[in-house]
Amino acid sequence: MSQKIQIFDTTLRDGEQVPGCQLSTDEKIIVARELELLGVDIIEAGFPISSPGDFLSVIEISKAVKEPVVCALTRSKKDDIDVAGEALRYAKRGRIHTGIGSSDIHIKHKFNTTREKVLEQGVWAVQYAKSKGVEVEFFAEDSGRADLAFLAQMVEAVIAAGADVVNIPDTTGYCLPELYGKRIKYLYEHVSNIHKAVISVHCHNDLGLATANTIAGLANGARQAEVTINGIGERAGNTSLEEVAMIIKTHKDLGLHTNIKSERIYAMSQLVSDLMRMPVQPNKAIVGANAFAHSSGIHQDGFLKNSENYEIINPDEVGVPCSSIVLTARSGRAALKHRMELLGYQTTKAELDVLYENFLVVADEKKKVEDEDLIALAAQMPILV
Ligand code: KIV
Ligand code: ZN
Repeated sequence: MSQKIQIFDTTLRDGEQVPGCQLSTDEKIIVARELELLGVDIIEAGFPISSPGDFLSVIEISKAVKEPVVCALTRSKKDDIDVAGEALRYAKRGRIHTGIGSSDIHIKHKFNTTREKVLEQGVWAVQYAKSKGVEVEFFAEDSGRADLAFLAQMVEAVIAAGADVVNIPDTTGYCLPELYGKRIKYLYEHVSNIHKAVISVHCHNDLGLATANTIAGLANGARQAEVTINGIGERAGNTSLEEVAMIIKTHKDLGLHTNIKSERIYAMSQLVSDLMRMPVQPNKAIVGANAFAHSSGIHQDGFLKNSENYEIINPDEVGVPCSSIVLTARSGRAALKHRMELLGYQTTKAELDVLYENFLVVADEKKKVEDEDLIALAAQMPILV
């Protein structure tokens, strides 16, 4: 039977940490409402102790959404947890996401302490967060580089302390998919109480592997994926929601499903890009301007014969209005003929040959040939007018 993956969206927390992408509370509410319609299960709404604005946003998002769990980030500190508990008071279902470093690099160079002390602090934080009457998720920061036996010890201890969800972040985007998948598998094999909690994957994209690592984690038993719209986030970003949702939907063989209404993905991507003033790279999977655009002659010809030749997803499925054929100097006669027909011109083979020669001259000059260029070319061929 297909297993449900919880989608934990952190666009408004990890995503919003990107310089220049800060949103006002009103803008965050707009995004949160759309995330609810998109079908995400958990919205990480902010880091309440970090600023009065973030505190207010968590309160207002808690009031604005009904279905998703609203989550607030904290360090393993009393004040952070108190403020997060306060910010979540209107949430129908609230969650505190608390945690501490788990790798020796973080333990030594960030906290200047010992494994024993971080373990003790993490357990304390989970117990204290639990006392706020909300769900508790624990993050073992920099899990991707942590000693595996110590990570397993930490996961076991925080679950025993009451963590409902345990997040295994590859904070620095260091892991290879196989390595990250093996880490999750190891935890399932070595943590005796692991089935009492949901294991979550949270990957960063420093080596361009965030999505691959997330899928490897899910394939090895994790049941929550932490993602952002358009993959925005610290440095090279986080795992992108649209990629994970569409991989799961496209590869039924994974035996997984999500609640994401995929036809809302494109509009969601545009909204976040507009509000955060962060353009989507044209070749971005699923939502980039070129994701459903075909520009070389061989591809265009194959696509026009049957779209499945060159598309594994129907654009409708993600809310993209239609695929496009971009006319360039690499385009062939089939694409030119097709576009001329759309513009109302029927061409014989001989006419098309002449038109194509003229078209190539314009294409070499302009890189991309627009409809008005074609109409002008047709006007020079009396037979087509
Ligand atoms: O990348 C990370 O480790 C984080 C944690 C705060 C969950 O964002
Ligand atoms: Zn992160």
